[in-house]
Amino acid sequence: MRNSKIAIKINELNKYYGKLCALDNISFEVQRGEFFAFLGPNGAGKTTTINIITGLSNYLSGKVEIFGNDVTTDYLRARRLVGLCAQENNFDPFLTTHQLLVYQAGYFSVLPKEASKRADELLERFGLSDKRNVRHRALSGGMKKRLLLCRALIHDPEIIILDEPTAGCDLELKFRIWDYLTQLNKEGKTIFLTTHYMEEAERLCKTIGIINRGKIVRIGNKMDVLRDQSLESVFLEVTGFEKVY
Ligand SMILES: Nc1ncnc2c1ncn2[C@@H]1O[C@H](COP(=O)(O)OP(=O)(O)OP(=O)(O)O)[C@@H](O)[C@H]1O
Ligand SMILES: [Mg+2]
Repeated sequence: MRNSKIAIKINELNKYYGKLCALDNISFEVQRGEFFAFLGPNGAGKTTTINIITGLSNYLSGKVEIFGNDVTTDYLRARRLVGLCAQENNFDPFLTTHQLLVYQAGYFSVLPKEASKRADELLERFGLSDKRNVRHRALSGGMKKRLLLCRALIHDPEIIILDEPTAGCDLELKFRIWDYLTQLNKEGKTIFLTTHYMEEAERLCKTIGIINRGKIVRIGNKMDVLRDQSLESVFLEVTGFEKVY
């Protein structure tokens, strides 16, 4: 891996949806082995950033690299290094959970025998072994979330990107996911996570980045960011309510 100290490097990235500026010249880096939390309110630009990092979305200008591989010009190399646990699922409705994982591994040149073994291990780890041969529609919401995680991990990526991985999970699953992510990070994997749960960011991450309305507001060591008093005040504008007497 080229430039191996920096896992994700984003430089002056701009993204528009029509006239809407979703990312306004953002730049930041995530170091190798980092546990990074990307925080921000709804619509801030978190998923858009993730979509660009993982090659799912185009952009107007700027540069994004994964371990030195440009996500546009060196797409295959860049994409192989990343496992994505997306905010919403987009599973093929005709495949069983095991088949889904084996197919996904195939995109990254993992041979079927190895992929099948790894799929079974992941299904076991996330308590889905008894759902091995059912389609994802037969899974509960929390189970689909676990399957998304399995899919992100199937090709043993160096960077794991998780877009609100514990949203809608029960407490036991949340703790199980936290434990597993902590273990992966200890093994050297770089973790990039978005969440709306401060407890999650506080407990797991070393570095926090905050984005608001497409602009990076703050990036730094977790304790420094959490102690930053300028981030403590929140301005609420409430509209759309009628007076009722
Ligand atoms: N495909 C799209 N077409 C048009 N606008 C989009 C599209 N995807 C996102 N947007 C807009 O871009 C902005 C950033 O959205 P994004 O999904 O990145 O936010 P987010 O930080 O992930 O929010 P959330 O916490 O709700 O998931 C929002 O204003 C959103 O409406
Ligand atoms: Mg999002």
